[in-house]
Amino acid sequence: MALTREQKYRPYADWSEAELEKIKENAARSPWHTNFHIEPPYGLLNDPNGFSFFKGKWQLFYQYFPFGAAHGLKSWVQTESTDLVHFEETGTVLTPDSPLDSHGMYSGSAMQFGDKLFIFYTGNVRDENWLRQTYQNGVLLDSKGNWEKVPKALIAQPDDVTAHFRDPQIFYYEGEYYALIGAQNKNKKGLIKLYKADNRDYKAWHFAADLDFANDGTAYMMECPNLVFVDKQPVLLYCPQGLDKTISDYRNIYPNMYKIAQSFEPETGKLKEPSAIQNLDYGFEAYATQGFNAPDGRALTVSWLGLPDIAYPTDKFDYQGVLSLVKELKIKDGKLYQYPVEAIVSLRKDEGKTFDNLPSTNNVYELELIFAAQEQTEIILFADQKGKGFSIMVDSKQGEITIDRSQAGEQYATEYGQTRSCSVDPGQISANIFIDKSVFEIFINKGEKVFSGRVFPNKDQTGILIKNGDVSGKYYELDYGRKTN
Ligand code: FRU
Repeated sequence: MALTREQKYRPYADWSEAELEKIKENAARSPWHTNFHIEPPYGLLNDPNGFSFFKGKWQLFYQYFPFGAAHGLKSWVQTESTDLVHFEETGTVLTPDSPLDSHGMYSGSAMQFGDKLFIFYTGNVRDENWLRQTYQNGVLLDSKGNWEKVPKALIAQPDDVTAHFRDPQIFYYEGEYYALIGAQNKNKKGLIKLYKADNRDYKAWHFAADLDFANDGTAYMMECPNLVFVDKQPVLLYCPQGLDKTISDYRNIYPNMYKIAQSFEPETGKLKEPSAIQNLDYGFEAYATQGFNAPDGRALTVSWLGLPDIAYPTDKFDYQGVLSLVKELKIKDGKLYQYPVEAIVSLRKDEGKTFDNLPSTNNVYELELIFAAQEQTEIILFADQKGKGFSIMVDSKQGEITIDRSQAGEQYATEYGQTRSCSVDPGQISANIFIDKSVFEIFINKGEKVFSGRVFPNKDQTGILIKNGDVSGKYYELDYGRKTN
C-alpha cells in the first residue's frame, strides 16, 4: 500500500503496535525472503552505511524505514560480523531524533577513533514549506551500543551547492583524514567535494577542493562517492545520476560507476590519469556501493541490490531491498575485479555435486561453472517444468554474456529492459553464481565482470536446466544456518 507523506514522516513512536503487527504479518507471507543476504524482515532497506571495523568486529549498517516498502523517515540499523559473510543485527538502531536530522538519518560512513565508532552521516531536514536542508553530522557509538550525537553540524552546506549535498565518506590517506561528499552545484550539475580534518580531528573539517576526476559534467547529482585504494591505486566509486548514455552506456534507472586512477593528490583533490568511466555492475540492480579500506588494507565493498524510484514485487508484502555479498576489490592488468571475500566458501554445505539438470532446488546455491570456448551455451536457473526461468547465455566465440529475466516470475521495472549484457575476451569463460531465493550475483572470470540483481520466481520456478552448449562445473548447496520457507 502506498504511504502518504504524513505516514512516511510520522514519528516512529506514533505507529501503534497493531499497525506494526499487521506489517510484520504481511511481510512474513512473502515467498521471496533471502537466506544468506542482509535483508530486513519488514520495511525498506536501501544503502549500505558505516561499513567499518570496530571492537574486533565488522560493522555494516543499512538505511532503513520500518513501516512498509517506502522511502520514508530513515534510520541506521546496525549489523555485525566476524567473517564478513554471517551478519547479525545487534538491535542498535540509530534514529532521527535531532533538529539536525528531523527528516531522516541519511547515508554515510564510519571509522573508529579511540574507543568509539565515529559515524559521519547526512541529516535530512525539511522546513515547513518542505524545502530541504542538509547537514553533515556525527554520532559516537560505544561498544555497548550507546550512542551520542555531536550537537552541532560538522559541515554546513557550502554556498555553491544545492541541498543535494550528502553521503560523507571518511577515509584515511597518508596520515590524514579526509571526507568525500556528493553534491549538486547551482547549475544542477553533479560534483564531489573533498574535505580534510584539521589536526586529524574528526569534528573539525575544512573544505579542501572539488574532487578533480575528469568529470564529464553530464550528471545532475553524484550520490554515494567513495574513494578506496587497491594496492595504493585510487578507485573512485560513485553514482552519477543522470549520466549521459553517450558517455557510458547503462540500462538501470541510475548507474553505479567507477574510475581507476594512478595516484591521488589530496592538496588539489586531483585523481591523476583517471580511467574512462565504467559500469561497476552489469545486472539489474547494484547501487550506492560503499567501500572502505579495512585495517588489513583490503578494499571491501557492499552494494544495495535495489534502486531508487523503482517499485518491487515485494512492496505488496511491505518490505523491499537487500544488500549484496561483501566483495573484495583487486586490480589485475589494469582491470578492476570484484569477488566475494574468501570466507564465502564456508557457506558450502559439502563438496558439491557435478553441475547438471536439476528439476528442483531450494533456490539457495552456488554454481562454479566453466563455459567452453567456441560455444554458445544457455542455462536456465529458476526453471519451471517447461524450462521457463532466468536465462544466462554465454557466447564464448564473441565474448558476449546476456542474462534475461523476462520469463522469471513476477516482472517489474520492465521499461528499463528485461535483459542485460556485457562482453569479455572470447575463449573459455568462468562464472561463479550465487542464488538466494530472489537474488542472483554472477561473477564472470572471478569478478572481471559482475551481474547482480533480483528475480521474483513463481512457486514452481526452482529448477536448473542446461538448454544447449557446453558447460561443466559444480553445484553447491549453501547453508547459512538460518531457516527460510
Ligand atoms: C542513495 C540515497 C543517498 C541518501 C540515501 C537516503 O540511494 O539517495 O544519496 O543519503 O539514499 O536514504
